[in-house]
Amino acid sequence: MTRKIHIFDTTLRDGEQSPGASMNTEEKLVVARQLLRLNVDVIEAGFPISSPGDFESVRRIAELAGDQAVVCGLTRAVEKDIDCAADALKYAKRPRIHTGLGVSPSHLRDKLRITEDECIERTIKCVSYAKKYVEDVQFYAEDAGRSDYDFLVRVIQAAVDAGATVVNIPDTTGYSLPEEFGARIKYLMEGVRGIENVTVAVHCHNDLGMATALAMAGVKNGATQIECTINGLGERAGNTAMEEVVMAIKMHEEELDAHTDINTREFVKASRLVSSITGMNVQANKAIVGANAFAHSSGIHQDGVLKKRDTYEIIDPADVGAGASQIVLTARSGHAALKHRLEELGYELEGEALDQVYEAFLNLADKKKEVYDEDLESLINERDRNESALYTLESVQISCGFPLTPTATLTLKDAEGETRTVCEYGTGPIDAVYKAVNKIIEVENDLAEFSVQSVTRGIDALGEVTVRVTAEGGKVYTGRGADGDIIVSSTKAYLNALNRLLLDKQEGR
Ligand code: KIV
Ligand code: ZN
Repeated sequence: MTRKIHIFDTTLRDGEQSPGASMNTEEKLVVARQLLRLNVDVIEAGFPISSPGDFESVRRIAELAGDQAVVCGLTRAVEKDIDCAADALKYAKRPRIHTGLGVSPSHLRDKLRITEDECIERTIKCVSYAKKYVEDVQFYAEDAGRSDYDFLVRVIQAAVDAGATVVNIPDTTGYSLPEEFGARIKYLMEGVRGIENVTVAVHCHNDLGMATALAMAGVKNGATQIECTINGLGERAGNTAMEEVVMAIKMHEEELDAHTDINTREFVKASRLVSSITGMNVQANKAIVGANAFAHSSGIHQDGVLKKRDTYEIIDPADVGAGASQIVLTARSGHAALKHRLEELGYELEGEALDQVYEAFLNLADKKKEVYDEDLESLINERDRNESALYTLESVQISCGFPLTPTATLTLKDAEGETRTVCEYGTGPIDAVYKAVNKIIEVENDLAEFSVQSVTRGIDALGEVTVRVTAEGGKVYTGRGADGDIIVSSTKAYLNALNRLLLDKQEGR
């Protein structure tokens, strides 16, 4: 049997730190369910002390995961952070506290303003303190990628001696070259006493586009845990993408003497889900999950693939859940057929939730004869977005065209069920609708980005709009909306972004 590489997912913590990718608790639970379907080993569910929302997410995900996965909460090397994480993880069947501090010269001198000896002291203190609450304590040596080799050995030795069960070696700034990062892991494997009794993790950032290569270099040199995110989401240029690193291990299992237990057939669905919830689109040429990842356009390539798939294709698309979209349902499909297909896609809906999606499905099937899996996913996401909304769209009407002045008449319903209708003019139809929305919601914001994509092929496809708005103070909120009418999707997307902004305000974030 080859070495098992543990997959530690941090989409809900580091991934969520991407500007505009923040998720509320309900959205995080939807992602967590998908992570469980992927069979990840560890879910880093949040940074509990950072906000009540993060605390609640860690608490609820711990409940959800049961004993299926380890659930982890991040802390600084600070007692009150650790107390808070322990509280959030109180009911977890398999809790882990992830604590640590910076170890590079830049972090010690400029950020923490402590000496090397003080850093060692704080390492011992934070690990021992976390150990009072849980057996499973993971220590991170932030900015290890730019640290002094021998000092890093001292820090990791201190963490291991204090009882850390996992030591995490992050390349926080994505600065390293793969060979150098691999050599660093090897140096630790050879220099730290007892390291063979703990799990060595790598956590790599993608600033130079090498996060996957760095994680692989870590695995080659002894690491047995990879920290990663769906679609490579994460701070700045992101983290190692789970789909990339897992498939790289799968393709090279023998030479690496390594395997993971990930259910790779769930990758495309996970990618679409995270993209839809966060509004972070996946580039078409993204490895494994991009729209073109298995598209062959040159005649020579097409000829080769038709003769034998592996002439130009190293992965069977079915292995990652990619493939031709299936026309699954039509207006004649009943409740049971919809429920069955949704279950096949991994959604278990009952009662009112199923009725709502069925109604939306019938509306769609009336307009668009063939309903694809992507359409169903889009309907579910649309329903989930409305679940926590403070304002919902009742109706929108536009009059526009040459030589009219674009005019929008809009009705929104608030959380108390009160409706309000307003009329606004604009330079174009979207401008008119957004001005109407602002007239009702009255929250300071600046529209920074707007894009529209079709969910499937065909002229009758649903149009999915993504917007990003910047709130007072600079925080970015993403919104999404899908509908057959792109004015309606645009309105829903803007409302979605403003609803998130308002919810954050309510929660004091
Ligand atoms: O990049 C990093 O160093 C981190 C740590 C908190 C693990 O995200
Ligand atoms: Zn990170």
